[in-house]
Amino acid sequence: MNDFHPKDLQGNILRGYRRRFVRYLMLEVTDRAAARAFLSVAVEGGSTDIPAIRTEETWKVKPASSFNIGITHTGLRALGVSQKHLDSFPTEFIQGMAARAPKLGDFGDSAPDQWPAPFDTPDRVHIVASIYADAQEELDHVEAQVAPAFNIIGLRNGRGLEDGRVFFGYKDGISQPRFPAAHDPAMAKVDEPADPLGTLLLGYPTSLENLRFAVPTPAQLGLNGSFNAFRVLSQDAAGFERYLDTAAQTLLAHKDVNRLLPKGAEDKIGKDMTRAQALREVIAAQMCGRWRNGVPYALSPDTPHPDPEVSLTNFDYGRETRCPAGAHMRRVNPRGGKIVQRIANYTRRLVRRGMSYGPDFDPARPDDAERGLLGNFIGANLGAQFEAVMCDWLNLGLQSPEVTGSNDPLIGANAPETSWFDLKLADGGTIRLRNFPRFVVTRGGAYTFLPSLPAIRYLAALEG
Ligand code: HEM
Repeated sequence: MNDFHPKDLQGNILRGYRRRFVRYLMLEVTDRAAARAFLSVAVEGGSTDIPAIRTEETWKVKPASSFNIGITHTGLRALGVSQKHLDSFPTEFIQGMAARAPKLGDFGDSAPDQWPAPFDTPDRVHIVASIYADAQEELDHVEAQVAPAFNIIGLRNGRGLEDGRVFFGYKDGISQPRFPAAHDPAMAKVDEPADPLGTLLLGYPTSLENLRFAVPTPAQLGLNGSFNAFRVLSQDAAGFERYLDTAAQTLLAHKDVNRLLPKGAEDKIGKDMTRAQALREVIAAQMCGRWRNGVPYALSPDTPHPDPEVSLTNFDYGRETRCPAGAHMRRVNPRGGKIVQRIANYTRRLVRRGMSYGPDFDPARPDDAERGLLGNFIGANLGAQFEAVMCDWLNLGLQSPEVTGSNDPLIGANAPETSWFDLKLADGGTIRLRNFPRFVVTRGGAYTFLPSLPAIRYLAALEG
C-alpha cells in the first residue's frame, strides 16, 4: 500500500477551496528552462516572485490565493518527459480531449473545430493553471507572477453565483465522493460507502476487486497523481427557461397532469404559484433530481420545502424512488440503485470543482449572452470514469432500459427531433416530454494530469 502525506498532494483535489473567484490560465511552454525553473521554485514555495503550489495541507491562516497546475500530454512532452514515460500514460490522455470528441458528445456546435482560442490549438495548451482567490486583484497579481515563465495563450474567469447556485438556477456543489483520507465535514453524515482512494489518486486500490488503475512511470511522476477533465460548458439559460414554459403549457393540457401535480398542490411547490409555474418547477426538479433549492427529489418528491427538513446528501434510489431514472443526478451517480452494469455502482465517481462564468442571468429579462460553467471532473482514470459517465450514462442511457436511447435532459447532446425524457408520476406511471434542445454546449477544455508535489519536482529537475 502506498501512502501520501498532505504536503505531497496538490490542493483542491481531495477537498475544495470554496473561494469566490477563479482564473484559469492556459499556458504554453515556449522556454523549457524558464518553465522548469518556475516549477522548481513554485513547488518549494517561499518566494515572493513566484506563487507556491498550494498543497492539501490544512492552512491555519487562509491564504490570499491558491495556485495549482494540471499538465496536458503535450505539456509533459514540452517539459522534456522521455518518450518511454510519455507512452506510459493512458491512451485517452495521450490523445487529449479534442481527439476524444466522439466519446464526449462534442459534435455540431460542441465540436472542437468550433472551440474559440486557445482551445482551437489544443496542442499548444500545455498547462492549465488555476488561481483561486476572494479578491480579483489577487488573480491579477498571481497572473503577473506566472507571465514571465510561460506564454499565456488564454484565460477564463469564473465566480461563484449567489447562494451556491449555477446557471439554470440550481444549487450545486452538494454531492461529492467521500474519501476517508479527506475528513470533509460536509460529507460526514453520508451513508454511501466511502470511496477508496484509488478512485481518485493513482496507486491505490479501487472499489473494483483487485483493480488499480495503471500508474504512469516513473513512479515519482505517476504516484498520487490524478486526471482532470477541464470543460468550458456554455449554458443556454434563456433556452432552458423557455423550454420549461413550453413543457408546462403542454402538461396543462395533458390528461394525466393531475397524477404529476395533484390539483391544489401548487402552494406546496411555492407560495402563490400558478399551476403553470408549479409545473415548471416540477419539471426542472425531475430533470435534475434535485429541486432548484437543492432538496433531493428522491427524499421529497412533493415539495421543495419539506417539513421537517431532509438531508441534502443522504439518500439512495431504491425500487420505490420517485426520482426518474433519466434525471441528471441519477444518471451520473446511480448510487446503490439497480443498474445494468451492476458492479459499476460507485466506480465512476467524479470529484467536481466548478464555478460559473459570464454575466448574471435574470429570468425576467432573458438575454443570450454567453455564460456557463468552468467545470473540472477529477478521477484516477478518464476512460473508466469521466468518459464512461459521459458516453454510456449521460448520452446513451445504457444503465437502465427505462432510459436507453435518451440523453441527459439537462446537459446531454440532445436534438429536438430525437430527444425525450420520462417524467415520473406519483403512482409509478410516466409522461414523456420531447423536443429538448441542447442546453449545454462545449466551448473548449483539456485533459490534464494533476501531478503530486514529488512529480512536479521530477519535472522541474528534468534535463535536456
Ligand atoms: C453545465 C453543465 C452542468 C450543470 C449545470 C450541472 C448541474 C448539476 C447539479 C445542479 C447537480 C446537483 C447538485 C449536487 O448534487 O451537487 C449536479 C450533480 C452532479 N453532476 Fe452535474 N452539471 C453539469 C455537468 C456535469 C457533467 C459534465 C458531469 C459529469 C460528466 C456532471 C456530474 C455530476 C455529478 C457526479 C453530480 C453529483 C451526483 C451525485 O453524487 O448524486 N455534471 N450537476
